[in-house]
Amino acid sequence: MSFTIDVNGIPRSVDVDGDTPLLWVLRDVLGMTGTKFGCGMALCGACTVHLDGAAVRSCITTVDSIGEGKVTTIEAIGGTPAGAKIQKAWLEHEVPQCGYCQSGQIMSASALLADKPHPTDADIDDAMSGNICRCGTYVRIREAIKLAAGSQVKER
Ligand code: FES
Ligand code: FES
Repeated sequence: MSFTIDVNGIPRSVDVDGDTPLLWVLRDVLGMTGTKFGCGMALCGACTVHLDGAAVRSCITTVDSIGEGKVTTIEAIGGTPAGAKIQKAWLEHEVPQCGYCQSGQIMSASALLADKPHPTDADIDDAMSGNICRCGTYVRIREAIKLAAGSQVKER
């Protein structure tokens, strides 16, 4: 079946089954490999993208559920105000270790910051708790989100 979905502001036509996860459309059909596969069961957050600005797990988002929704991926998040701030703070704090989880982390953090420009610790916990980092970069992630939000950041 043919679907046209808006990915990073560009209409993309894909010929796949309707129940194909968006993650596979992005990676295998469109060749956009910035979005990562971790668990495939909405348990790790590696595959996080935005759908109309909200963080969603692309591994369980079927292509036929997207409709007119606008998909934003890690490839374009730097073009949004919140995403630009988050990426700058990520660099400043040198957040990534192996890097595998990081596009998902950045997408969740960007959605948080766009929704809540000055998130509390509880807001950060809520928004980020579904994003697993096997390298344990959680402290730097938190500090980078606070830096991006213009909050006080403690010394490392
Ligand atoms: S791959 Fe989607 S949440 Fe893990
Ligand atoms: S940086 Fe390695 S899994 Fe998060």
